[in-house]
Amino acid sequence: MKVLGLVGSPRKGSNTDLLVSAILEGAGANKHLTEKIYLYDFEIVPCVDCKACKKGNFKCAFGDGMQTIYPKLEEADAIVFGTPLYWYGPSAKMKLLIDRLRPFIASKKLKGRKAFLVIHPKRVQKPATWPSECSLYLSSIWAWSWLEN
Ligand SMILES: Cc1cc2nc3c(=O)[nH]c(=O)nc-3n(C[C@H](O)[C@H](O)[C@H](O)COP(=O)(O)O)c2cc1C
Repeated sequence: MKVLGLVGSPRKGSNTDLLVSAILEGAGANKHLTEKIYLYDFEIVPCVDCKACKKGNFKCAFGDGMQTIYPKLEEADAIVFGTPLYWYGPSAKMKLLIDRLRPFIASKKLKGRKAFLVIHPKRVQKPATWPSECSLYLSSIWAWSWLEN
């Protein structure tokens, strides 16, 4: 099994990075192939809803860093989405990536892949509020019903 870890923090060695790395180390120790990428190393331009990815070969029209990331996502059996909590949502770079996953909605190429979500906040005032603090982010994840989680 191949496990791809996405780090959506701009800070290498950050909390999110450490958490994603720990998951990958565990996967590696269990003989799974692992790869980690830092989203901030890539240019990811915003989806403009041009709908090019909804027809033909389901290819995104933009020739940016996502063209390197798309094949890695396709090759992965499991994807770890790691992000710091920024204003109750993902970091800007992770949100850009989420929006650019749209080709996979039409192509269903990620159907059946496992997804893991790692969110690192600064503090959670009351543990009971944690689900609602994450709800905006999670609602966007739930839209990816083609992934298993
Ligand atoms: C723009 C911005 C918004 C943030 N919003 C929140 C927030 O809503 N709730 C929270 O607990 N922490 C918030 N934080 C703090 C980060 O989640 C926290 O510093 C986190 O540990 C950063 O992750 P990292 O160490 O992986 O970079 C915010 C930080 C930034 C820079």
